[in-house]
Amino acid sequence: MTDLLRPIEIARPASLHFGAGLVPLISRWARERSVSRTLVITGKSNAKRIDLLELPGQVEVFGEAMPEPDIPNLNAALAMAERVKPDLVVGFGGGSAMDLAKLVAVLPGSGQTIHDVVGPEKVHGRRALLAQVPTTAGTGSEAGTRALVTDPATQNKLAVQSRFMMADLAVVDPDLTLTVPSAVTAATGVDALAHCAEGFTSRKAHPLIDLYALEGIRLVGRYLARAVRDGGDREARAGLALASLYGGYSLGPVNTTAGHAVAYPLGTRHHVAHGLACAVIFPHTLAFNAPAVADKTAQVLQALGVTAAQQEVAIFEAAYGWCAGLGIEMRLSKLGVPRDDLPPMATEAHAIRRLLDNNPRDLPRDRILQFYEAAF
Ligand SMILES: NC(=O)c1ccc[n+]([C@@H]2O[C@H](COP(=O)([O-])OP(=O)(O)OC[C@H]3O[C@@H](n4cnc5c(N)ncnc54)[C@H](O)[C@@H]3O)[C@@H](O)[C@H]2O)c1
Ligand SMILES: [Fe+2]
Repeated sequence: MTDLLRPIEIARPASLHFGAGLVPLISRWARERSVSRTLVITGKSNAKRIDLLELPGQVEVFGEAMPEPDIPNLNAALAMAERVKPDLVVGFGGGSAMDLAKLVAVLPGSGQTIHDVVGPEKVHGRRALLAQVPTTAGTGSEAGTRALVTDPATQNKLAVQSRFMMADLAVVDPDLTLTVPSAVTAATGVDALAHCAEGFTSRKAHPLIDLYALEGIRLVGRYLARAVRDGGDREARAGLALASLYGGYSLGPVNTTAGHAVAYPLGTRHHVAHGLACAVIFPHTLAFNAPAVADKTAQVLQALGVTAAQQEVAIFEAAYGWCAGLGIEMRLSKLGVPRDDLPPMATEAHAIRRLLDNNPRDLPRDRILQFYEAAF
């Protein structure tokens, strides 16, 4: 069966606005729906600028969303939601805040716990409205149905997927990302790139999504270095916000592959930021997969603006040089990862079948260990 004959479903937020300076739109939208009690899920830095949202009625703020949220962090947000009983939940932040907001919109009062809803379409429903306002350009979580939370007991990312977690409204205002520090800009930008590149080369790749994925890679190639150099470059910020959104489109019906599976243990076990972990792993998996998807790998590099390379080693070096050129620390030893943890990390990554089963080339556990050792 060719890709064109394979059915696919895409879902989008009911309403999505993209544009610099659009954030006050959420105010009108909430008033039109007679919202009287809102719970904003956000992190410490964004909590200081909730006023930008101009929300009507009673507004409560959970300002403790932590990077790479875990179950205790989720439980604290859920406890607040049980008390506030909001009719609108707003995710205002990066992927961490937006993912928590999704779960806060569906779990309270449902009788379901986080453990009941892990996996696809286990959530029973949703009572509150959900709006998402991204402040990083990386995850595309504003346009998706997944939420990721770390379980401290197993050090695994629990992935919940539900159509009830799709936002009613997403407002992508690239100006909100002007304050993102240069290192976070670089890392989150590579996360967006990884979503697009992995979706584009996945076994589940589909022409309907390839269009977005390839354009997302082009946008990262054109704008990421510019935004890292000059955080105030509004055009570059807008290009990256769009790339992030397109990455989110790639995640929905297609999703990531080996790059993310191999990156996850860095975050869950050693608190390496998600985008940074993706950047360290990206050159390894892109090069490893190349023999299985040679043409598409060449298109990825070309869209990125990197000199076309064909051999695995040359592809690795081109992609590595591109990431390192953004100032990203590419060595695990410098990111707080102990050498003796590399074997259990490889075992753990290899067990993430929901992603690895869609990788275009079978990736053995020992090869994952080789990636970690080479990156150490
Ligand atoms: N739902 C999905 O489809 C999806 C996809 C990819 C990643 N994720 C998840 O998203 C999380 C990562 O999200 P992220 O990369 O956006 O990072 P993040 O949300 O953890 O934010 C990174 C840091 O930047 C800060 N920050 C956010 N916006 C800022 C701004 N405008 N100015 C200054 N600082 C700002 C945050 O407070 C935080 O300290 C991970 O948990 C990852 O697993 C989810
Ligand atoms: Fe990601």
